[in-house]
Amino acid sequence: MTTPSGSGDRAHGLAPSAPEAAWPAEAIRKSLSAQLPGFTVEVVPELDSTNSELMRRARAGHLEPVLLVAEQQSAGRGRLGRGWTSHSADSLTFSLGLRLVPADWSGLSLAVGVALAESLHADIGLKWPNDLWLRDRKLAGILIETATSAAAAEVRYAVVGVGINLAERQSEGFSTPPAWLQELLPGCQAGDVLLRLAGPLLQAIRSFEAEGFTIFKSRFDARDVLRDRPVLLGDGTAGIGRGITDIGELRVQTASGMKTITSSEVSVRPAA
Ligand code: BTN
Repeated sequence: MTTPSGSGDRAHGLAPSAPEAAWPAEAIRKSLSAQLPGFTVEVVPELDSTNSELMRRARAGHLEPVLLVAEQQSAGRGRLGRGWTSHSADSLTFSLGLRLVPADWSGLSLAVGVALAESLHADIGLKWPNDLWLRDRKLAGILIETATSAAAAEVRYAVVGVGINLAERQSEGFSTPPAWLQELLPGCQAGDVLLRLAGPLLQAIRSFEAEGFTIFKSRFDARDVLRDRPVLLGDGTAGIGRGITDIGELRVQTASGMKTITSSEVSVRPAA
């Protein structure tokens, strides 16, 4: 068994990391550990999926707070059973795993999107429910999954997975063309980006846990890319995006009236 490089002292059989210098693992661990006792940061060169790995660990009873970064994923996952393709040089892929006990889980992915967008750039928009967009192209995606603790059913372990395109990507094979962060932050590198967003991300998750989605609503509204635009729901229904509700549901005006979209199983895209 090899020990992953990073700031933690646990071994999970992962391959050792690339040079630590590129990854400010210890700086991130230090800055977040006051809010997350026992927090570790792990960076590995390759994994199937950081979300899959933390979900496997959670199911095996490992519920410690951890930030797991993979320089390369061989089976990255997106929402709705889709894949997430990325390469080590052109993207940042990580998952934050932690115990969470919010009164209501509605809107968590939107709150995470708000935190990421605000920490990165004023021009980044949010496409309900889980995407960061730049000028009608997809810059980043969020995949949140939860596991329940066998020891305490009320405690859930949340795995917040984030994939961000950093460098230029070709559009072939994407239903929504990709954007990349270096368009906004020329030369930005994965480690710097992670350092920049890790604190705001944890802060937002903790605020969401304590206060719910309400405090994020106006901040989402300010970046909502679907508002007042034609949208097409997954079932083919056409409508106009009319913002979100107080708990983060999407409002769509259709020919048969206002619809409130709650299901994360619905795919929504601006009509061409
Ligand atoms: C989506 O756009 O549908 C969500 C994409 C989420 C991708 C990230 S990359 C890190 C983490 N590990 C995964 O397998 N998926 C998430």
